[in-house]
Amino acid sequence: MAIPFERLGWLFAHWGERAYPGWARPLLARWLRGLPPGARVLDLGGGTGVLSSWALAERPELEYVVVDRAAGMLAHAPGPVGTLMADAHDLPLQNASVDGVMLGEALHHFAHSERALAEVARVLRPGGGLWVYDFDPAAGIGRWVYWGERLAGEPAKFYRPQDLAAELENLGFGRPQIDSRHGRYVLRATRSA
Ligand SMILES: C[S@@+](CC[C@H](N)C(=O)[O-])C[C@H]1O[C@@H](n2cnc3c(N)ncnc32)[C@H](O)[C@@H]1O
Repeated sequence: MAIPFERLGWLFAHWGERAYPGWARPLLARWLRGLPPGARVLDLGGGTGVLSSWALAERPELEYVVVDRAAGMLAHAPGPVGTLMADAHDLPLQNASVDGVMLGEALHHFAHSERALAEVARVLRPGGGLWVYDFDPAAGIGRWVYWGERLAGEPAKFYRPQDLAAELENLGFGRPQIDSRHGRYVLRATRSA
């Protein structure tokens, strides 16, 4: 058993943003303001495009692409954004072809999260930015989410924020910035040249 995302598009489209704490959106807005004019931004494991909707409100002139393997989620993505049905482990994108990647409540759903992170590093141009929101499996509410997802049959590949930071530095990112509260965190990192 696993979470049937293919059939949950309506639910996520209407309720998905409630899964995020209020402090995550301003951190996304701050990150977006650092992207250059005309930036191309992936919303990876983006589902119905919750993060892309927020991003559109902040930087409507940028190009957003929601990437997900579930057509039933992508079908609910907001009109102005592009969609790409693809597997995060094997992105059909050129090296260094995007300026930003957003990963919201998605990384821990990827069966091979380390491979997906390597793909993120590959498609981001030097100087490109990564924004991640996820749960710390060893703190606060993150502990419950970890066990809940294991019981639901999901990969539950949760990283502690410091472990994700170390993995990203190995992949060629500069020292990530972490904001963490009660088992949830936002990590921001920049791909080194
Ligand atoms: C909890 S949802 C989060 C969706 C969205 N980021 C949000 O914040 O509402 C996780 C998403 O990851 C997608 N997903 C899981 N494994 C994937 C993979 N290997 N490649 C691409 N998307 C994947 C699922 O289809 C689902 O839409």
